[in-house]
Amino acid sequence: MRIDDLRRVLVIGLGTMGQEIALHCARFGFDVVCYDLDAEVGESCRGRLGTLVGQWVGAGLLPAADARRMLDRIRIEFEPAAAARQVDLLIECVPEIRRAKAEVFARFHELCPPEAVFVTNASYLTPSMLAKSTGRPELFAAFHFHDPVWVANVVDIMPHPGTAPATIELLAAFAERIDQIPIVCHKENHGYVFNSMLRSFLMTAIALASDGVADVEDIDRAWMGVMKTPIGPFGILDRIGLDTVYDIVQYWTLVSKDPQHAKSREFIKRLLDAGQLGLKSGHGFYRYPHPAFEQPGFLQPGR
Ligand SMILES: NC(=O)c1ccc[n+]([C@@H]2O[C@H](COP(=O)([O-])OP(=O)(O)OC[C@H]3O[C@@H](n4cnc5c(N)ncnc54)[C@H](O)[C@@H]3O)[C@@H](O)[C@H]2O)c1
Repeated sequence: MRIDDLRRVLVIGLGTMGQEIALHCARFGFDVVCYDLDAEVGESCRGRLGTLVGQWVGAGLLPAADARRMLDRIRIEFEPAAAARQVDLLIECVPEIRRAKAEVFARFHELCPPEAVFVTNASYLTPSMLAKSTGRPELFAAFHFHDPVWVANVVDIMPHPGTAPATIELLAAFAERIDQIPIVCHKENHGYVFNSMLRSFLMTAIALASDGVADVEDIDRAWMGVMKTPIGPFGILDRIGLDTVYDIVQYWTLVSKDPQHAKSREFIKRLLDAGQLGLKSGHGFYRYPHPAFEQPGFLQPGR
């Protein structure tokens, strides 16, 4: 497939990332079909997309007419067979659980056109771990966005040994069409490029808090005060979503056998058990929409 033949994108999983990716592809002129296993998520999707776009219009980032055209390019489907029809590119955005992702690929391989390219937005699983389940390994790679998609304009493209070179070229061209900088990895690595660096940073922050070295807010203050960033590690974790963070910490607990990872996992689990999922639930390490780290005075001495 050539880039000019790539017109219809199917986004599977309409959570934090799926909704942003769907909007982003529509913004750059692609027809987007959205599907989520949870019908309620599908039902609420159009409203959530409208709210996000309304915020961009309100902030002067997007003309209202463009916003309407963008939303018109997005279709929500509730039946997998209807969602898969005439799809050129499938972007999988379901939770970071290998079996769940593999099941999605196997199911949609049966339904999508045979020439459709499949990608995963997985954070830490590598494409080799999923390639067989796609039924089309030469047309499969990881294509990993960063949150928020319209600000962090970098995607990792990570092939596995069976990915065809033409697929990598197509994905790099697609990244550029949607105004993203493609970072093509030469080999597989858990966490690509940016996430590999971010993982060490966030895991260290969680370890500092779960080990009782300092409070969450002070750990953020330390980073923000020195680096002059608008957000610290725990604000970032809230943005990612603590359920997704838990899946990732759980993965590393199993892989590394480091006892600190198990301690960190329990620390995150306590918040999840209390219903604190981060920004998406309005409460994580901070309360939203006005988290403490955005308040004047957060970085003032003698606050
Ligand atoms: N959140 C981030 O900042 C971020 C950034 C980059 C990559 N990722 C990765 O993107 C993926 C999705 O993360 P998220 O944070 O958007 O997750 P999320 O939990 O917010 O959303 C996942 C969605 O997938 C749906 N789903 C679950 N199983 C499904 C299935 N079998 N078929 C269709 N839909 C299904 C759920 O109903 C939910 O709406 C994960 O692999 C994550 O690691 C996340």
